[in-house]
Amino acid sequence: MGSSRNKFTSLLLMFCLVVLVRAEYAKYKDPKQPLAVRINDLLGRMTLAEKIGQMTQIERVNATAEAMSKYFIGSVLSGGGSVPAPQASAGDWASMVNEMQKGSLSTRLGIPMIYGIDAVHGNNNAYRATIFPHNIGLGATRDPMLVKRIGEATALEVRATGISYAFAPCIAVCRDPRWGRCYESYSEDPKVVQAMTTLISGLQGDAPSDYTGRPYVGGR
Ligand SMILES: *[C@@H]1O[C@H](CO)[C@@H](O)[C@H](O)[C@H]1NC(C)=O
Repeated sequence: MGSSRNKFTSLLLMFCLVVLVRAEYAKYKDPKQPLAVRINDLLGRMTLAEKIGQMTQIERVNATAEAMSKYFIGSVLSGGGSVPAPQASAGDWASMVNEMQKGSLSTRLGIPMIYGIDAVHGNNNAYRATIFPHNIGLGATRDPMLVKRIGEATALEVRATGISYAFAPCIAVCRDPRWGRCYESYSEDPKVVQAMTTLISGLQGDAPSDYTGRPYVGGR
């Protein structure tokens, strides 16, 4: 008698445990699921308000942890010169980004936010970051491998501030020096500009060996 009651109790406990685990399980959070399955699962769970929020990028000055969670904000940017304090350290930046991220992760679906910054010649908004010459000067070097290494150094200094997204490079082809942002162009020659896009592999690392170059196509 006693042993069958014990068996019943342990079966019941196991059943409850399975139910609990199933309720916690979300396909979109499972890295073993194919990307398309994860995306469809997540989109299927999102409300309209969450979708609108995820498509919205707000400026740093308005991005409190509360705003991030209340409006499901997808990304934040530092506009030109928008810094947490005039001489903020890398640690100050990282704390600020972490605080916003806590707000995003506390939401129902826990979608992390992305923080982006104009790190176009070094992490040029951050106090004491290495400032490299602007693109017009780098183009004049005709040295794509140097530019790649500048991208690597910039990525490191951006990551040090807790940021994972650089709005760079500018690949404008300046044909008229009267344009106010000509300095952001590597050259008036598109071939030189194209050669200097090594900055991208510097910033984000070389493509994985199995990368096909084709965009990922998901779908049901
Ligand atoms: C964002 O911040 C700016 C500057 O402090 C302020 O003028 C503006 O009202 C804020 N916007 C919102 C929606 O809070």
